[in-house]
Amino acid sequence: MPDSSSSAMMRIGIVGYGHLGQFLVEKITTAGARLGVTLAFVWNRNPDKLRGSVPEQLILYDLSDFKDRGVDVIVEVCHPRIVKEFGVLFLSHTHFLVGSPSALSDQHLNTQLRQAAEEHGRTLYLPTGALWGGQDIQRLDDSGALKALFIRMSKHPSCFRLTGDVLSDWTSNEGRRVLFSGSVAELCPVAPNNVNTMAAAAVAAGTLGFDGVRGEIVSDTALSDYHMVEVEVIGLNGFSVHTVRKNPAKLGAVTGTATFNSFWSSLLVCKGHGGRVYLC
Ligand SMILES: NC(=O)c1ccc[n+]([C@@H]2O[C@H](COP(=O)([O-])OP(=O)(O)OC[C@H]3O[C@@H](n4cnc5c(N)ncnc54)[C@H](O)[C@@H]3O)[C@@H](O)[C@H]2O)c1
Repeated sequence: MPDSSSSAMMRIGIVGYGHLGQFLVEKITTAGARLGVTLAFVWNRNPDKLRGSVPEQLILYDLSDFKDRGVDVIVEVCHPRIVKEFGVLFLSHTHFLVGSPSALSDQHLNTQLRQAAEEHGRTLYLPTGALWGGQDIQRLDDSGALKALFIRMSKHPSCFRLTGDVLSDWTSNEGRRVLFSGSVAELCPVAPNNVNTMAAAAVAAGTLGFDGVRGEIVSDTALSDYHMVEVEVIGLNGFSVHTVRKNPAKLGAVTGTATFNSFWSSLLVCKGHGGRVYLC
């Protein structure tokens, strides 16, 4: 087994080889050495997708074998189910960057992951993704001055992946349609791939949590070039912040292009911040 402690390089395990996984593997391969990060392994549900693109010695066939690869940080970029099945096990050996934070809307899992991080002194990292001002929200929350938080994500209908069929009937020029409005806890199961930004916000706003942070998803056929993320923060004594982020995105893209680079920046932060949850 490689000894990660003797190496100055941070060894990364990538779990999932879709859009984000491929982007991160490419970044680590091309720019990692200069920035002190290297690949420990890549896992994908279907390993055939890895052959030819990832060196054979870096392919992990059985995810339970991650411990044998001397990994410092595991990056989940596939599905909330993997967070549920492996998150606690990962944290008992290594730091863990959760790419699908909507998984944390499951309160039982949320508690288990926090406890595992604390018990093993490993950091549970949450990427801010497309959330602007996440650390500011967290600071406001830490000081006890956060009263309310609302996030609206508006996208072209082709950019949504919903579990129900609320959007199966969209037409090319129908304009704006509010798809869902409610707590982030209610939203996560409806649109697990579209609400990661809101989930990161619910973690930042820990005292409000997934039940207290409000969210809205809006389909808008006018948004053919970008996703829009609006954040409204209400604090004490009339304090308020309203941000509007335009995230360039192609038609049909679930993830805005700026979010990929945001993820890469988040990964470079994961050098260990103790046994706790850390927004990065
Ligand atoms: N935190 C954020 O801001 C943010 C931004 C974008 C995407 N995400 C999340 O990151 C994850 C990856 O995003 P992506 O754009 O690369 O997605 P993608 O669809 O391009 O790739 C997902 C990969 O995971 C695999 N996969 C799907 N379901 C699986 C399952 N149940 N078990 C194991 N593997 C499975 C797929 O085969 C694919 O290789 C998704 O969960 C997405 O919601 C988070």
